[in-house]
Amino acid sequence: MNHPPDRQLPFVLAITGASGSIYGLRLLQYLLEAGQPVDLLVSQAACQVMREEMDLQLAGDLKADLLAYLELPPGSPVTLHRLNDYGAPVASGSYRTCGMAVVPCSLGTLGALAHGLTENLIHRAAAVSLKERRPLLVLVREMPFGHIQLKNMLTLSEAGAVVACASPGFYHRPQTISDQIDFVVGRVLDQFGFDHSLFKRWKEEARPLPVPGARVSLNP
Ligand SMILES: Cc1cc2nc3c(=O)[nH]c(=O)nc-3n(C[C@H](O)[C@H](O)[C@H](O)COP(=O)(O)O)c2cc1C
Repeated sequence: MNHPPDRQLPFVLAITGASGSIYGLRLLQYLLEAGQPVDLLVSQAACQVMREEMDLQLAGDLKADLLAYLELPPGSPVTLHRLNDYGAPVASGSYRTCGMAVVPCSLGTLGALAHGLTENLIHRAAAVSLKERRPLLVLVREMPFGHIQLKNMLTLSEAGAVVACASPGFYHRPQTISDQIDFVVGRVLDQFGFDHSLFKRWKEEARPLPVPGARVSLNP
């Protein structure tokens, strides 16, 4: 999966209702600041988690609210899809994308993806990514894992997805929560071949300047 992404093709980002929606939002912020077009899918549970964890005020226009929170211009290249819209481009394999990430991925969505369910557009877009042999990454967040979830992760990995955990390292000497978020998001971006410098790599001499912005905070 580690090839440079074709920046002309959209990136599909799904944010589901696991703890850590900040990871998905930081990834969205990075992609849009890098000029990467994004097809965005947000589950209802994800909105609930954003309210609970980040005091995010969601007044009705989700796209506008998220862009405002991330301090991004309204004209940013993101298309938000309704999860019951099976006519959306991402529901079809003929719509080309550079891959899909589910960040964070709930255990419920993990189970649906592992078993090919298509009960919402996130499931369908992921199934399309798998059948078209496009990169699919799920960033699962739970602790501990039960037997069923471990089997679902194995199933999904065998089907070609990259299964990752929201599991920040400490070898880059993090100083803040933002450092930890950027470590996880940076490792997600690595899987898609983005040339970023969100964290100091192992044995890297000096930490490069963070690009683009590290502005997302838990308490804006
Ligand atoms: C504050 C909060 C935190 C949650 N954290 C997790 C979590 O870390 N992992 C998980 O699998 N589900 C978590 N859940 C439960 C999911 O949101 C729930 O299972 C939901 O049905 C997932 O739906 P979705 O996959 O469509 O987003 C959390 C829910 C809330 C309200």
